[in-house]
Amino acid sequence: MSLQSIVFDKEEGKLSILNQLLLPDVSLYEEINTVQDAWDAIKNMKTRGAPAIAIVGALSIAVELKKRNFLSLSELSSFVNESFSYLQSARPTAVNITEAAKRFSEITQGLVERIKDPKKACDILYKNLYEMLQEDISTNTSIGRNGAEHILTQYSGGDVTILTHCNTGSLACAGYGTALGVIRSLQEKGRLKQVYCTETRPYNQGSRLTAYELVTEGIPGTLICDSMAACLMKERHVSAVVVGADRVVANGDTANKIGTYQLAVVARYHGIPFYIAAPFTTIDFSISSGSEIVIEERKKEEMICFAGKRIAPEGINCWNPAFDVTPGELITGGIITERGVFTPTELINQKK
Ligand code: MRU
Repeated sequence: MSLQSIVFDKEEGKLSILNQLLLPDVSLYEEINTVQDAWDAIKNMKTRGAPAIAIVGALSIAVELKKRNFLSLSELSSFVNESFSYLQSARPTAVNITEAAKRFSEITQGLVERIKDPKKACDILYKNLYEMLQEDISTNTSIGRNGAEHILTQYSGGDVTILTHCNTGSLACAGYGTALGVIRSLQEKGRLKQVYCTETRPYNQGSRLTAYELVTEGIPGTLICDSMAACLMKERHVSAVVVGADRVVANGDTANKIGTYQLAVVARYHGIPFYIAAPFTTIDFSISSGSEIVIEERKKEEMICFAGKRIAPEGINCWNPAFDVTPGELITGGIITERGVFTPTELINQKK
C-alpha cells in the first residue's frame, strides 16, 4: 500500500492533503479550498517536501480556476501569475514551485496569444495543472529505476543497505518518492537488504514520516538518531547514502534538509558513495553556486518543544536553519534524475 499525501478530484475540482503534522498517529485529510489555504498548509508544513509544495500550490490554483469566472484573458493571466508568486513566498528554499510558476506563466502567455475565449483558456490551464500529479509519479518512477540500476552496477557485494535522511517518499511528492523511490525500486528488484533512516531533527521527518512509510509499505527499515550516522557507517555496512534535494544549482551544490551536509562529509571519510535523487524541476541552472541559495530559517519552537512539551530552557538562543548546502564535490555517487545519473560536473551539460 502506498501512502497518498495529495488527493485531487479533477471532476469536482476538490483538493485534500494529508496533514503531515499529525502523522504517524492520526491520518487526517484536510480540504484546500483556496490559494491562501495552500499557502498556510505549506508554511505550517502540513504539506512539505519540494515536489509536494509545488504540486499542492499548483492544484490550489486549479481549485480556484474551477470555481471562478474570468471575464478576460488578462484577468486569468494575472490571477495565475500572482497566485504562484504568493505561493513561492511561503517557503524560499525549494525551487520546484518557482519552476512551476515559470512553466505556467509561459503556458498562460501562450494561451493569451492563441485563444480568445477565457473559459476555454481556463479549461486548458486546469488540465495542465492537474496533470502535474501524474507527471510527478512517472518522473519519480524513472528516478527510482535509474538510481537503483546505477547503485547495483557500482556495487558487486550482493544486496544493498542504504542510509537516507528526511522524508522523500510518497508523502513528499505525488507518489513513489525520489530518494525513497530509489529505495523502493531496489526493494522491487529484490536487492534491498535494508534502509537506515535518520530521525531528522528538529521536525522529525525521518522518524514521523519516513519510518511510517517504511513500516506501512513493508520495506525493511531501521531508525537512527542523527548523531548516530558516523558510528553507523563505521560499525555497520552502508552501501550508499541516498537523499533528496530542495535545490540543486549549476555546479552541483545541493540544498537539502539540515544534516545532509554532515552525512556527505562523513560518507566521504568512510568511502561510501553519496547520491542526490531529484527531478529536473529541482535543478536551478540560474544559480551558479550553493552560496547564493536562500536558506529558510524556522521558528525556535521546533527545537525547544517536542510534541507540545518544552525540552530546552526558556531564554536559550536558537539557530534553526531548515536546510544546508552540500558542496557538489561531496556528491561522489551522482545526481540521480529522471534523465539519468550525472556527476555534478556533467550536470551543466543537461541545461536545455
Ligand atoms: O522541510 P521539508 O520537510 O519540506 O524538507 C524536505 C526535504 O528536505 C526533502 O529532502 C526534499 O524536499 C526532497 S523531497 C522529495
